[in-house]
Amino acid sequence: MIIARAISELIKYRKRSPAETWGFVPTMGALHKGHLSLVRRAMKENDKTAVSIFVNPTQFNNPEDLKKYPRTMKSDLALLRKAGVDLVFAPEAGEVYPPGFQSYIDVTEVTKPLEGAARPGHFRGMATVVTKLFNIVEPTRAYFGQKDAQQVIVVRQFVRDLNIPVEIIVCPTLREKDGLAMSSRNVRLNSKERRAARVLFRSLSDAEKAWKSGTRDADKLRKNLISVLNSEPLARVEYISIADPVTLSELNGKVKQALVSMAVFFGDVRLIDNVVLK
Ligand code: PAJ
Repeated sequence: MIIARAISELIKYRKRSPAETWGFVPTMGALHKGHLSLVRRAMKENDKTAVSIFVNPTQFNNPEDLKKYPRTMKSDLALLRKAGVDLVFAPEAGEVYPPGFQSYIDVTEVTKPLEGAARPGHFRGMATVVTKLFNIVEPTRAYFGQKDAQQVIVVRQFVRDLNIPVEIIVCPTLREKDGLAMSSRNVRLNSKERRAARVLFRSLSDAEKAWKSGTRDADKLRKNLISVLNSEPLARVEYISIADPVTLSELNGKVKQALVSMAVFFGDVRLIDNVVLK
């Protein structure tokens, strides 16, 4: 496995001919089985696989969150080596954002609600770094998790708008046995918060059940969601949303499909989760 810290080094090993397919999984490290499911899918569908590990400072709106973000480079590299990844790009911040850096990718509409409203600047930083990574790695296909539903929508949007020659593949959310979506942030929950966090999956499962038994009223779904989340005293809801899965605008009344999503704090740990009803 080649580990490149510099862009010039990575370019030596990236895709060489159009015939060779490269899968690419961008990550911020602190790897778990969710990340590895993306890596395995990329390996299955491509000749070669590249993974990036970079805690991207420009997508953190909260400096404390950036500081506390788990960093486990050594074990991350061991996991990727064991999985059989060909190339890892793990740059320092100064390599990605050298002095004088001043160009950003701004996706206007689909970044407005949900995570975009709760985390100003987050998607500008994410879109900028992912665009840079696409330019540097030049992958055939890039793999993203449904866990970050809006991220996928934003990535698809700028890839289409900017004619970036990469195929975006979305992979299902991997969960712990009790349903909690795997996340690098889960290790920061204490045992009480970890137990309380099960309420996220419980509320989404309830919404799915209601949907399957014929409930189509967005306001009713929203009401149920609020009451399940409010039943957990350690959960501090930042937003809950029943939105159009394409435009992300909030829905009312009878709906044909919906993205149910939420951001909830347990202590100072912010977790997100979602499910698509259709
Ligand atoms: P990160 O949070 O490390 O996630 C990397 C990829 O793993 C994302 O596509 C995310 O959706 C996916 N992922 C995380 N948890 C998952 C789970 N439980 N099941 C399936 N997939 C999961 O998302 C980012 O990093 C950054 O924004 C990045 C795209 C790397 C840009 O900096």
